[in-house]
Amino acid sequence: MSWRVLGFESSCDETGVALVEVPAAGPPRLLAQALHSQIELHQDYGGVVPELASRDHIRRALPLARSVLQEAALALRDLDAIAYTQGPGLAGALLVGAGVAVSLAAALDKPSIAVHHLEGHLLSPFLSSDPPDFPFVCLLVSGGHTQLMRVDGVGRYELLGETIDDAAGEAFDKSAKLLGLPYPGGPHLAKLAEKGRKDAFPLPRPLLHSGNLDFSFAGLKTAVLTQSRKLEASEGSRADLAASTQAAIVEVLLKKSMAALKMTGLQRLVVAGGVGANRSLREQLQRACDRRGVRLHFPELALCTDNGAMIALAAAMRWQAGLACASKAASFEVRPRWPLAEI
Ligand code: KG4
Ligand code: ZN
Repeated sequence: MSWRVLGFESSCDETGVALVEVPAAGPPRLLAQALHSQIELHQDYGGVVPELASRDHIRRALPLARSVLQEAALALRDLDAIAYTQGPGLAGALLVGAGVAVSLAAALDKPSIAVHHLEGHLLSPFLSSDPPDFPFVCLLVSGGHTQLMRVDGVGRYELLGETIDDAAGEAFDKSAKLLGLPYPGGPHLAKLAEKGRKDAFPLPRPLLHSGNLDFSFAGLKTAVLTQSRKLEASEGSRADLAASTQAAIVEVLLKKSMAALKMTGLQRLVVAGGVGANRSLREQLQRACDRRGVRLHFPELALCTDNGAMIALAAAMRWQAGLACASKAASFEVRPRWPLAEI
C-alpha cells in the first residue's frame, strides 16, 4: 500500500504545502510543492510579527494547496491523509495550518496527522537526491533550534546536545542586525563575510571545551555588540566583523558535530535546517568529514529551510511505520512549545 499525504507547514514565516507519496517499497517521492515566504511582509519590522504571520498564512494556505494538487494532477479524493505542523512555533501561525488541515480532513472523511516540526527537519533528507541510511547524527541548525541528535530510525531520536540559549540562526540574525543588515540576517551576514578577514576580531567560541554537546550563542551576540561599537563606518571593517562572527559560529558547530560523531561512533552526518545553507559551514564540514571518512549529507537548500514537503513526509513515514497519530477527530490543539523528546 502507498500513502499520499498533503502537508501544511505554518509554524513561522513560511507557508509551505506539499504532496508526498510513500510507496510500499522504494523511496518516498515528492509529487508537488509550493511555498510562500513572508520575508517582505516582515522586513520593515526587522523580525517576524506574529499577528501578521497568522493573517498571511490564512491568505496563502488554500491557494497553495490548490496549486499543489494541480501540479500533481490529482484531486482531493486521491489523498490518503492531511498533515500539519502541530508545533513548536508561533501559536497563531500554527493554528492556521492546523485549522485548515483538520477541517479539510474532516470534510473529506480522511485522517489528519499532527507533525512535530523538528521531526520534519530530521526526516527531510529522505526526500533529497542523496538520501541517508539510518543510523546517523543530525546537526539541526535553524532560526529557532540548534540540536545534535542521534537518529536510529523513524521515531527513534536521541537528543545528544542543544543550545542553552540562542539558536545558531538567531546568532546569525542578531549579529546581522547589529551590523545594520536587513532581516533575515543570516544570508546577508554570510554574503558580507565573503569580503572580510575571519581572524580580524577576537570573538568567543562559547562552550567549545565544555566536554558536552551543548551550545550557547548569547555571549557571542554580546561580544559582537561590543566590537560593532568600535567600528568605523567603513565597509571593510564591517565585513571583517561579519567574517569573524561567521567563523566563530561555524567553528563551534563543526567541533561539536565532530565530537558527536566520535561519541556515538557513527560514520554518517546529516545537516538540516536553514543555517545548513551557509557555504562556509558546508565547506568546512565537508573537509572535516572527508578527513575522517565520514559520509556527509546536505539536503538541497529548499529542503533545509522550512517547507511543506518535510511535514507531509514525516507524517507519511510515521504512518507507514505504524507510529503516526492519524486521527479522524474534528478537533485539534497546537503545541507552541513542544520538546521533540515528548513525541
Ligand atoms: O530552518 P529555517 O528556515 O527556519 C526555522 O525553522 O527557523 O532557518 C532559518 C534560519 C534563519 O536564522 C536564517 O538567517 C538562517 O536560517 N540562514 C542562514 C543562511 N540561510 C538561512 N544562516 C547563515 N547563512 C546562510 N546562508
Ligand atoms: Zn524549521
